[in-house]
Amino acid sequence: MITVTRVGKHIGAEISGADLSQPLSDDVFAQIAKAFFDNEVVFFRNQKITPAQQVEFTRRFGILEQHVRKESRLPGHPEILVVSNLLDDKGNAIGAQDAGRFWHSDLSYKKEPSLLSALYAVEVPVKDGQVLGDTSFTSTTAAYEALPEAMKQRLQGLKNVHSYRYYRTKNAQVQKEEAARGGRVVQEHFPTEEQLKSVPDVEAPIVRTHPVTGRKSLFINEAHTSAIVGLPPAESEALKKEICEHTIKPEFQYRHRWQAGDLLLWDNCSALHKANFDYDLPLRRLMYRTTVRGSVAV
Ligand SMILES: [Fe+2]
Repeated sequence: MITVTRVGKHIGAEISGADLSQPLSDDVFAQIAKAFFDNEVVFFRNQKITPAQQVEFTRRFGILEQHVRKESRLPGHPEILVVSNLLDDKGNAIGAQDAGRFWHSDLSYKKEPSLLSALYAVEVPVKDGQVLGDTSFTSTTAAYEALPEAMKQRLQGLKNVHSYRYYRTKNAQVQKEEAARGGRVVQEHFPTEEQLKSVPDVEAPIVRTHPVTGRKSLFINEAHTSAIVGLPPAESEALKKEICEHTIKPEFQYRHRWQAGDLLLWDNCSALHKANFDYDLPLRRLMYRTTVRGSVAV
């Protein structure tokens, strides 16, 4: 029997009473899945799991993706994306160092965007007794429900373009500006043309319906949305900014402070997330992410 304790007003719950290194019965898994879809973000503390066990657990939710960044996959486990600031002995990044400085949902730029992601904390950065590198989440269902009726009407039927190329170009520009200011330097290869072409831009409804819960949510984000279909550029930018700012109001958010051994799952259909880069080497951060494929957004 698991226990579910809500931690945020609209989003986030801790699940206790489950050991994810052990096989879970269908009944316990169903309880976990229900808690997950009800709360949009759930986490389990003090888990000791191998990469294979993480793969096995998250695969029960659906097909696992293999990330387009091949160089950031965990050797021997192509379903695991390494998210880390660590470097190998040649000074190369061992994983994605810069995943998520903008609010986004994972793989929203794919034709079948992700259903959920799971992140397992292997090592977390600690400075003067304080853990750094929190992840912030916001509920896009709560944000949708709080919209004025006129805005709900305006958004109904509108589509937005989710673009991996737009995201990587924007991210590279921000990295360059930060490095030029004497800030953090990120060693990261810009994707090849072949990698970019493997994820062509997609159009998706701004208001989508969750494939499991049926709740409506805002499926638009500052990282991946390059434009709103059919609007002149200035109007498109203004509306995108307005919705994105509404979506991240503090009352819709939950900020997770990590502990080593946390396994945390978030719903990519009903939540956005953002990394907080307030740490740097020699403080070490090592996380393993698995990502479950979803269905076409409708
Ligand atoms: Fe992410």
